[in-house]
Amino acid sequence: MATTTAPAKETAHDTFPINGTDYIEFWVGNAKQSALFYRAAFGFQLTGYRGPETGVRDRASYLLEQGKIRLVLTTPMGPEGEMAAHIAKHGDGVRDMAFWVDDARDAYAKAIERGAVSVQEPTVMKDDQGEVIIAGIRTYGDTIHSIVERKNYRGPFMPGFRKTESPFMPAPVGLKYVDHCVGNVELGKMNHWVDFYSKVLGFYNLLSFDDKTISTEYSALMSKVMTNGNGRIKFPINEPAAGKKKSQIEEYLDFYRGPGVQHIAVATDDIITTVRQLKSRGVEFLTIPKVYYDTVLDRVGKIDEDIAPLAELGILVDRDDEGYLLQIFTKPVFDRPTLFFEIIQRKGAKSFGAGNFKALFESIEREQALRGNL
Ligand code: FE2
Repeated sequence: MATTTAPAKETAHDTFPINGTDYIEFWVGNAKQSALFYRAAFGFQLTGYRGPETGVRDRASYLLEQGKIRLVLTTPMGPEGEMAAHIAKHGDGVRDMAFWVDDARDAYAKAIERGAVSVQEPTVMKDDQGEVIIAGIRTYGDTIHSIVERKNYRGPFMPGFRKTESPFMPAPVGLKYVDHCVGNVELGKMNHWVDFYSKVLGFYNLLSFDDKTISTEYSALMSKVMTNGNGRIKFPINEPAAGKKKSQIEEYLDFYRGPGVQHIAVATDDIITTVRQLKSRGVEFLTIPKVYYDTVLDRVGKIDEDIAPLAELGILVDRDDEGYLLQIFTKPVFDRPTLFFEIIQRKGAKSFGAGNFKALFESIEREQALRGNL
């Protein structure tokens, strides 16, 4: 498959070690209702709450968990402040992709020394379960990376949150961990943010896709995937490229009013069961023409799964040198056409489905056309 341009072999020189994604926080207009959506539709469990009842006056946060994935949905209690402004400008969206580290003070100091912009100096939060140290740095747009140290905390999440048990526990759908989080940035800014992840955080460029790889009749984009040393953090960065019509990245930038997180890919060990569950609970996915399945096995070779359920559900397949992967994309989960989710099952493959880009982008463009944005 000649669709990826592998850069010269690079290695990461992590500025500080990252154990993995700690949580992803969304700033939303109505966290109570959003929480119910992710519980009922995506099978997350409500495990924690922070708000006026726990002594936090200005916001309410719901902690949702499934597998190793933690989502925090936070809403402001009034129109004042940064969070309300963020929601007015961007709509609901991802504010924070938090890193789990062993030494937040050291990580923050090293990031700042290398040029990171501070959002929050290391702050100690304590309760009778111990302490969490949290710091924060900026990334693209109004998005941040919190840096979270929890090695001296025995509680379920962090001080301020109380443990929540609800009688409403929709069955999980098999989501295991965050595989990658993709950012959309402005035209000409991809390399700026690639440099940020490389110079400030010590990540390396795992894969690059140019506009010849990722183009359809109408639109194009460029993408570089940045990853840390242990590979647990993978951040593809997209920028629009010139096409005949408005690209999906431009549509995102228009509606999000700037750069931000485009999609979160979550991994499952059984994509057919996971997607069947999600569909039965109302999650909407992009549809792929049936002709895709006429030739997919010629392209990817033998796979363990039957093709019939993949075709029925619209699951895509791609292969690289190390194996194959199965993937599917939801429609945007907000009214603004901004963030969507990817469900991915890796069977050896370490890539991102470049062989599917054309079919996928044509599907996205059909949706864009329906919105009057193509
Ligand atoms: Fe993806």
